[in-house]
Amino acid sequence: MNNESAISPLPAEAAPTETAVQSKWNRVVGRRSFLKGVGLAGAAVLPGSGLLASQAMAGTVGKLTEGDIAILRFLAAVELIESDLWQQYNELGGVNGGNPSYMAALSNLDGDMSQYINDNTEDEISHAAFLNEFLQSKGAKPVDLDVFRTLPSSRATGAQQIGRLTNLLSLDVDTSYYTRYRSAQSPDFGASFPQAVTITNEPAIPLNDKDTPPNTEQPNPPVTRDARRMQAIANTAGFHFGYIEQGGSSLYGIMALKASSLEALLIAVSIGGVETNHFSLWHDKAGNAVAEPLAGVVDPVTKLKFPNLNGKQFPAEVFQTNLILPEPTQFISKELPACSVVRPMLDENGGAVATIDSFAADQLFKGQSEQFFNKVMELAKAADAAKRQV
Ligand SMILES: [Fe+2]
Ligand SMILES: [Fe+2]
Repeated sequence: MNNESAISPLPAEAAPTETAVQSKWNRVVGRRSFLKGVGLAGAAVLPGSGLLASQAMAGTVGKLTEGDIAILRFLAAVELIESDLWQQYNELGGVNGGNPSYMAALSNLDGDMSQYINDNTEDEISHAAFLNEFLQSKGAKPVDLDVFRTLPSSRATGAQQIGRLTNLLSLDVDTSYYTRYRSAQSPDFGASFPQAVTITNEPAIPLNDKDTPPNTEQPNPPVTRDARRMQAIANTAGFHFGYIEQGGSSLYGIMALKASSLEALLIAVSIGGVETNHFSLWHDKAGNAVAEPLAGVVDPVTKLKFPNLNGKQFPAEVFQTNLILPEPTQFISKELPACSVVRPMLDENGGAVATIDSFAADQLFKGQSEQFFNKVMELAKAADAAKRQV
């Protein structure tokens, strides 16, 4: 038996042919999808290209509308941004991470933290690569943000010294998702939510080896100065992971509502489901930063405190750390029964422009150029302007 057949999930004779698999997908996305891979240039040499030419006149490329392209291009930009930040976390704290102290502090949130960081990073890279390749397969322009990879890396052991799109060295993390998902009120009905922890100007990755030596032990609970500093950084990361991924959960759902083609809709709901899966995981881990034995950690540099959210001073249902599954909430109409759903789902609260505004408020783009903002905002406005055409 050779190696190839040893890892094959099916005997060769049972494996469906590529044609058979493609025809199943064609049933899902509509029969026109046999034109997959044919952009405008290809269409010109096909019989029936008159139809495609008229679609082009009507503002479509292949079978994607201009709106679909705008949605997918914005999502590609967001995935490049996500990939950039997750890669920074992964270099230092992933399963092959290069900073043992950071990895150990993260492992105080969950013993499998490094593996989860690694997998989340892989997912984001796959999302960005897929979206850009898909756009190209339709003759649409992919998104390239490489020229904006200008922000500095962490100087701590483990970090590559390369230019970054995003800043993780000083974040204002909005932790209100934690209380929002525990509330029966919805942001789409005007509700606002308290911060679980107020995180301002805090690094989410180690800054340098002087501030946090890379090989010091990380007791749980942290007792030494270095251990408390590193734990506060790891706890900030724990809350930041949830912040990023809850944003993706809302954004993909909102974009799905604007998609015109079944393929764009399929992409939005299929990647969106994974963003929600990520959020659910990180929501759980963030709670571990504010439960015993880590609760009460104070950053010796910034004085940031991670309070015990299971304390009696809070309404338990709003802060209790194990209430990680979304509380039923208002949805569509207050007259209807409460429903456990992703929220927000309105453009102004979680759409493309709202997402970029939120990332900016997070300080994720601290140090970025005006041209970068203009570029991502232009993509965001086009995505928000997309309208479902049926
Ligand atoms: Fe993603
Ligand atoms: Fe994500």
